[in-house]
Amino acid sequence: MSGFVEKPQPVQVPGLIHLHTGKVRDLYRDEAGLLVMVASDRTSAFDWVLPTDIPDKGKILTQLSLWWFERLADLVPNHVVSTEVPAGAPADWEGRTLICRNLRMLPVECVARGYLTGSGLLEYDEQRTVCGITLPEGLVDGSELPAPIFTPALKAEVGEHDENVPYEEVARRVGAETAAQLRQTTLAVYGRARDIARERGIILADTKFEFGLDEDGESAEAGPTLVIGDEVLTPDSSRFWPADEWEPGRTQPSFDKQIIRNWLKSPESGWDPAGETPPPALPAEIVERVQARYVEAYERLTGLAWS
Ligand SMILES: Nc1ncnc2c1ncn2[C@@H]1O[C@H](COP(=O)(O)OP(=O)(O)OP(=O)(O)O)[C@@H](O)[C@H]1O
Ligand SMILES: [Mg+2]
Repeated sequence: MSGFVEKPQPVQVPGLIHLHTGKVRDLYRDEAGLLVMVASDRTSAFDWVLPTDIPDKGKILTQLSLWWFERLADLVPNHVVSTEVPAGAPADWEGRTLICRNLRMLPVECVARGYLTGSGLLEYDEQRTVCGITLPEGLVDGSELPAPIFTPALKAEVGEHDENVPYEEVARRVGAETAAQLRQTTLAVYGRARDIARERGIILADTKFEFGLDEDGESAEAGPTLVIGDEVLTPDSSRFWPADEWEPGRTQPSFDKQIIRNWLKSPESGWDPAGETPPPALPAEIVERVQARYVEAYERLTGLAWS
């Protein structure tokens, strides 16, 4: 079992048509045909959208994405058109709303990994590969890879795991040329972001991007442009590890939802991630610690104070 513990209702805003409720974001279309992407404070863990929000999380993710988009603009165009909140929208949309180009999203989660952990480690332990890429012997949880690798996954429905696939499967789905462009861009963006994070004492272990094609911006000769969409380089889409605590051979402390996962797995929550029952509400103390972790990630990466 999995999915939403409580399915959120879309907000009614004059002039906006509700398109989709994702795990974290609500999507609307405005009268100009642009996509209005609103990041909520929802959190998912173990393929469930939890019944407890993390205050400000959607704003932190949105502001951090914007900060990164600026630093990546010479590598790949992004989907952001403006941050102006549509007239008549709730005041709370300020800071969490992006007006975006409506892209035809490619059905691939473009993951880059510079370090071994998570689903990559599971595959490595079984067969010494990650997404079909053979890796050297002797790597452990948290090891740095000889070079960053592109490890694509196919996007799953809410409540399902994304599935890691070999590069050839991506080429079959989107065509050889686009697949090559996805791999090249994913690794270029990862490399840039890894270096920026490293200067700030943070290891970018891995990260996921979503790309789409801008068919409106299509030119007859060049065809549709590849554009980076969704959120980028946030604690929800990436593993950030404090560099000074990095120690291969164990689970690394991380700036993401690890505190929530640990609590949900603990006897204190009384919940079984493998069972049929929805997860319980998070205690206030856990909510505070997770929020502080997101703020810390934002502040350390950007060097700005989260007000
Ligand atoms: N510029 C864009 N144009 C169209 N769709 C976009 C764009 N940017 C992001 N998306 C889509 O918007 C959704 C963002 O919502 P969210 O992150 O909550 O979803 P998710 O839980 O990751 O996935 P799902 O939407 O399948 O539940 C994703 O489906 C993403 O692919
Ligand atoms: Mg998402």
